[in-house]
Amino acid sequence: MPSANHELYQDAILKTPSPSFAIEQVRDIASKLYGLTGNLFPLPSERDQNLRICTEAGDQFVIKIANSAENPAIIDMQLKALEHIALVDPELPVPKVLFSRNGSAIEQIEAENGTNHSMRILTYLSGASPQMTPTDRALHRPMATCLARLALALRGFFHPKANYELLWDLKHASKLRQYLPYVTDANHHELVNYFLDRFDRNVLPLIPRLRAQVVHNDFVPDNILVAENDPGRIVGIIDFGDLIHTSLINDLATTIAPMLIEQADPVRVAVEILAGYHELVPLEETELRILYDLIAARLVTLNMIAYWRATIHPYNREYITGGVDETWSLLEAWRAQNPTDVTKEFFRVCGLWELHAVNSMEKGANEPLEGHLSRRARLLGPCAYLFYDRPLHIVRGEGVWLYDNDGARYLDAYNNVSHVGHCHPHVVNAIARQARRLNISTRYVHGYILELAEQITKRMPESLSVCMFVCTGSEANDLAWRMSKLVSGNSGALITKFSYHGSTTATVQLSTETIPEVKLPSHVQTLFAPTSDSTFRKPDSGLGSAIMALGEHGHQPAMLMLDTAFASDGIYTSPEGYLNTLFAKTHAAGGLCVADEVQGGFGRLGQHFWGFQFDDAIPDIVTLGKPMGNGHPLAAVVTRPEIAETLANETGYFNTFGGNPVSCAAGLAVLEVIEKESLQQNALKVGQYLREHLAVLQRDYPVIGALHGSGLLQGIDIIKPDGAPDPEMADRIMNRMRENGVHIGTTGPNGAILKIRPPLVFQKEHAEILLVAMTKALDDILI
Ligand SMILES: Cc1ncc(COP(=O)(O)O)c(C=O)c1O
Repeated sequence: MPSANHELYQDAILKTPSPSFAIEQVRDIASKLYGLTGNLFPLPSERDQNLRICTEAGDQFVIKIANSAENPAIIDMQLKALEHIALVDPELPVPKVLFSRNGSAIEQIEAENGTNHSMRILTYLSGASPQMTPTDRALHRPMATCLARLALALRGFFHPKANYELLWDLKHASKLRQYLPYVTDANHHELVNYFLDRFDRNVLPLIPRLRAQVVHNDFVPDNILVAENDPGRIVGIIDFGDLIHTSLINDLATTIAPMLIEQADPVRVAVEILAGYHELVPLEETELRILYDLIAARLVTLNMIAYWRATIHPYNREYITGGVDETWSLLEAWRAQNPTDVTKEFFRVCGLWELHAVNSMEKGANEPLEGHLSRRARLLGPCAYLFYDRPLHIVRGEGVWLYDNDGARYLDAYNNVSHVGHCHPHVVNAIARQARRLNISTRYVHGYILELAEQITKRMPESLSVCMFVCTGSEANDLAWRMSKLVSGNSGALITKFSYHGSTTATVQLSTETIPEVKLPSHVQTLFAPTSDSTFRKPDSGLGSAIMALGEHGHQPAMLMLDTAFASDGIYTSPEGYLNTLFAKTHAAGGLCVADEVQGGFGRLGQHFWGFQFDDAIPDIVTLGKPMGNGHPLAAVVTRPEIAETLANETGYFNTFGGNPVSCAAGLAVLEVIEKESLQQNALKVGQYLREHLAVLQRDYPVIGALHGSGLLQGIDIIKPDGAPDPEMADRIMNRMRENGVHIGTTGPNGAILKIRPPLVFQKEHAEILLVAMTKALDDILI
């Protein structure tokens, strides 16, 4: 048999015989060093010498005399860990350390043959060894809970020796290959290689990213004691010999693996233990992804070390290798499981549903796009259209970046909902924290809704002091429309020529992007948005004629609703005089003025926090949405108290989800990030930089017409040589840029305007990536 080429610490320990002090000698030492007297009884140990001492007072202790190869510093770590656990979670049934007369936790004693040994004394924990049968589940939950509590208790513990190299530490599983020559059965050989290959591929690269701390690392039934009269109650945790600093998840895998042996449904047992642990120590996605392979690695470890130990203690071979056959059978059964399905089950029990992310860890396990698209068409119907000629399957987002299911990264210069960046940790944490605590409707008193209302209204003109929370921009506009009709007593609506205000029955009729102007109902009439050169059609952009047209159909204006970023009209801001002129005229005709800030609000436009501030105008109602929850559905209507009062007197208003504590936590977090990260200022700065460089491109590429918009909402007209809009070219550029790794969109009455609308954490370097991708797209298409 080959010898291990990796000289490990435990190799030396296993090869060194256990100490064999005479009982009298130990009695003398205990009495002299610790003042302990009583009857001594030997206890079994493979590598140390252990004795139980029972004093006349009836107290019991364990005297542990370490193998001479044992490093006192490692014993010191184990004892300090016990003290730490007792400090943090005194209820955990771990032994207490007895200090010698010298005040030491460890004493050095010398054997007759001159070898030195570390000695310590711990309190003796009484209890029964668990007698578990494969069908007995009573201990699964208590073990999971106890392990989780141990992990929590050790979280703040550190010791300079804590990361010594221990082969039982799963992070070294790859090194088990050195013992493969001891495995003579070809099937077992292949099984070990199969799982170690998986370990190398799936686990090794992730180890540096995993949470790590000192863990027990051998929390198995052999190392616990249960109450004599209650086999489901753990009363003792007795072996801290494998304590190590390693990935936290290794500790759980180490506990789960042996519990699966001889189980008819090992996945179910694993899931049960996992669920109990996760309740106290919520696991992270990456940890769950590798749990299947870590459990296998632990099983491989059990057998490989058993073979290796058998070569060191050949006289004891039968005892040492007693359980290997059952472990091999379990490994076979484990291999027969579909790892993706097992991992999905792990995700499910932990309340995580990122199944695509799980899928993507298994090469080839992803559903091909064609299959996905036909399933989508069948299940979601024809309205669920997708962006780009080659649709994307996005599985993850971070800041300005999106990642598809093949791991490809895209710069997101289009999605405004993720206003402060995809999955901003401050927002994600705020949502998760509140979701764990409470989510409930607004029929109960809650602080967050008031805080959010205060934060929003303090950013509004003073008169707009009432906030009504809803879930979508459409609902907000629907409510604004309802209030406008009630307050004005009129029935007509005024909108721009290519507007979008929502998808409800009422707001779709306010959306000329969806219902062409000629098909609008007669109670809705249109006016002109400001144009690309930031001018408007004086004197009133067609508002007067629109009001007249309403009158011709028996309506008076109830409301003028304007998207203050004119995003669907082509992306403009209000030139001086535009809003004030229109607001004055609408008021004079009896209508209310609604600023739809669903696209332009929350600092995106750079110069101002709200779009209506570009003309220093004061609306009667402001509607908010999209970016407000950074992806969490949250929207609002902000208005004057008397307007809300009119609605309250008429019908009142209730929205089950609007303003719930989780949504408000998201909304508050978004505002905090905007403020702390100066995102409005960033929008202004990066927006200007982008505009300057787009202007350079404009000089070189005649397809680029006017540039408009503000901050991080920019429009680029794409034109034909005669200056006419060129929607086909705009579409080709957008799709080409997608191929070049940058997402933008198109908008405008002809779809001939490129729309740039990234999360506000977009920096100059991102703008540069966008410019390069756009230049390349133009060159690819034009040259
Ligand atoms: C200006 C504007 N108003 C209202 C809406 C409707 O918002 P939601 O889709 O959340 O209902 C949108 C959505 O794109 C919008 O851009």
